[in-house]
Amino acid sequence: MNQETRIAGCSQFAWRDGELHCEGLSLANLAEQYGTPLYVYSKAAMVERYQMLRQAFGPKAGIAYAIKSNSNLSLLRLFAELGAGFDLVSLGELRRIQAAGIKDADMVFAGVAKQEQELEAALEAGITFFNLESQRELALLEAAGERVGRSVPIALRLNVDVDAETHEYISTGRRQDKFGLDLDSASQALRQIRDSKRLQLVGYHIHLGSQIRSTRPFLEAFSRVEEFMAAAPEHREGLRYYDLGGGFGIAYGDGAGLLDVQALADQLLPRLEAHGLTAVLEPGRFLVGDAGILLSRVLGRKPGGERDFLLVDAAMNDLLRPSHYGAEHPVAAVSRPDRPPEGKVDVVGPICESGDFLALGRSLPDMQEGELLAVFSAGAYGAAMTLTYNSRPRPAEVLVDGESSQLIRRRDSYPDLWAQELDL
Ligand SMILES: Cc1ncc(COP(=O)(O)O)c(C=O)c1O
Repeated sequence: MNQETRIAGCSQFAWRDGELHCEGLSLANLAEQYGTPLYVYSKAAMVERYQMLRQAFGPKAGIAYAIKSNSNLSLLRLFAELGAGFDLVSLGELRRIQAAGIKDADMVFAGVAKQEQELEAALEAGITFFNLESQRELALLEAAGERVGRSVPIALRLNVDVDAETHEYISTGRRQDKFGLDLDSASQALRQIRDSKRLQLVGYHIHLGSQIRSTRPFLEAFSRVEEFMAAAPEHREGLRYYDLGGGFGIAYGDGAGLLDVQALADQLLPRLEAHGLTAVLEPGRFLVGDAGILLSRVLGRKPGGERDFLLVDAAMNDLLRPSHYGAEHPVAAVSRPDRPPEGKVDVVGPICESGDFLALGRSLPDMQEGELLAVFSAGAYGAAMTLTYNSRPRPAEVLVDGESSQLIRRRDSYPDLWAQELDL
């Protein structure tokens, strides 16, 4: 991996003659055409990541794109065309699939507090399975099955108490996390499923957290599931799927690479096959994270008590991850990034919060007003988590394919900001 690829996370964002490009297009031209702040995505980068997973896990595995990571309709359509299914967590996400005109995709439905109307709609839409998160859901699923007149496929989400060693807020597989069923509750739930005419156990589900870069937690989790399956014959009746969740980590520029998905597949698939289980994956960040950047214009520089501030036109409402999770996205000047650094700066936006920053203590050249700054690896949980706080219009999004670009979300207009309000 060369230095550029390491910063950008993928080869589709690269400098040519000192100017950053996305595939065949200059970012400076895109900023001119669409304005800033602007999300720019590379189609080729998403296709490449999808193929990497497909190659590693083979044609039979279900790759269910985690819609929550970036739910733009155009990206959903792209993944559907590539053959992906979808991982949903809300009725809104199901409605997005339908709005995108996607038919017959495999879908799985997770979520710790599912509601009746969501379950019914998903069942009607032909969901592949629900990820059961608590015993509370059994009655809801049973009732949904009765009303819709279908049997209800369930992959029971086990909480196997494995620490994914990631950020507190994105750890989901430990005993203290709110997700899944501990093994005792799972045994009870299995009895209820067996006694029901409508409910049908089809697999197990695990999701340990996000941004996991080692294969160890995935393998350890499956060992716990194997122990659970071995514990009683009714723990393995009717099983077809093992959904290993998402959380496949990316680099965020700090040198450690992507999760080695080939090594994971090589170690896990033979074990699944031995139990007659088909793998289902739920990647979000891995597919879209590195494929997107947030482009922002420099407004000026302000001397600070400890470090200077680089003031830019993007803010925490446009990219929440740095202030919410302490996420460290690589940043670089779009033009001539190799100028000598001018000390370390905090990159901050216009929002009235000290927590409004995109990057802290970074070495950047002396960037002048009007220059462009790229925030890398912003394709996942970037646009999807935008807010209109401080009455800031949410940014536009553009998809680049070779030499062409397409606006896939227009910037909010000011009237969009109050369109839902009733002016009494
Ligand atoms: C159940 C489930 N599956 C998949 C994902 C996707 O995670 P990632 O984007 O890290 O792959 C998440 C993320 O929160 C999740 O909760």
